[in-house]
Amino acid sequence: MDELTQTVSGALAAVATAASLAELDEQRVRYLGKKGELTQHLKQLGQLDPDARRARGAEINALKEQLEQGLAARKEQLEAEELTRKLWSERVDVTLPGRRQAMGGLHPVTRTIERMEAFFESVGFEVVEGPEIEDDWHNFEALNIPPEHPARAMHDTFYIDPTTVLRTHTSPVQVRVMQSTEPPIRVICPGRVYRCDSDLTHSPMFHQVEGLVIAEGTGMPDLKGTVVDFLRAFFERDLAVKFRPSYFPFTEPSAEVDMQCVICGGGGCRVCKGTGWLEIMGCGMVHPRVLEMSGIDAERFTGYAFGMGVERLAMLRYGVNDLRLFYENDLRFLRQFN
Ligand code: PHE
Repeated sequence: MDELTQTVSGALAAVATAASLAELDEQRVRYLGKKGELTQHLKQLGQLDPDARRARGAEINALKEQLEQGLAARKEQLEAEELTRKLWSERVDVTLPGRRQAMGGLHPVTRTIERMEAFFESVGFEVVEGPEIEDDWHNFEALNIPPEHPARAMHDTFYIDPTTVLRTHTSPVQVRVMQSTEPPIRVICPGRVYRCDSDLTHSPMFHQVEGLVIAEGTGMPDLKGTVVDFLRAFFERDLAVKFRPSYFPFTEPSAEVDMQCVICGGGGCRVCKGTGWLEIMGCGMVHPRVLEMSGIDAERFTGYAFGMGVERLAMLRYGVNDLRLFYENDLRFLRQFN
């Protein structure tokens, strides 16, 4: 009997330190399984006489019960540990910051066009668009640029066929508006234009905004006022602006607008090539021939027009020194505008 008690206390020690449920079950089988040590002893009880059998049976059963309790207790412990481990491995850290939805932003060229539209809409202009694939007549002839006119050479035109071009400026939209609208007219026409030209400061596609006003009695003072107000609003500065006589086939008189350099303030720098001035747009009074060709009575109405490059304005306003940055879609560049 002592021997069996010792076996069971050894078994209880092994059970108490069993490292896993599998190991614990091995112990159960070893002592309490069909061929287990205690089971063997119980089977041998039959060979004893009734009195001895009763006493020995009670002893063995008490040991058996002790071992079963030990097994049950360890099982409960191991299961609890297992559960804790599982919960820990599946834990969710609710204090981690959430994953945000990534936000896109508008391209700086789009933002610049929107700023320009906002200004002109606030002073009564309407925004109108026209086709990028244009016929020779709208892009050139109706703007007083007949075939063989030297001004055609200035445009580096992409021809689709001998009479169809990618528009080289937004001025053909003027023609379309004049053909379809009774004056008074007050529109700006933003959009893409194309020229077969590509280097540090030229891109084969860029954007212009065209302005056109046709009314009875409008003249250069209105043109000047509108352009100066626009530039001061766009650059949010009280800039000096001057109108330098120039030539465009579709305006007479024509001028180029120079404004005080926004980079150096007029002292002279690399951007203004030391002059203190920046060329910013072309403009003039719409040529009477252009009015007549689009069906507007040039005796009764006068008009002014202006046209400017959006990328150039965006570069000056945001201090961008390389035109190509606008077309490379580098997110590090674009994100700065959000
Ligand atoms: N269309 C001219 C250009 O692209 C600009 C311009 C527009 C000049 C309107 C005068 C009037 O160079």
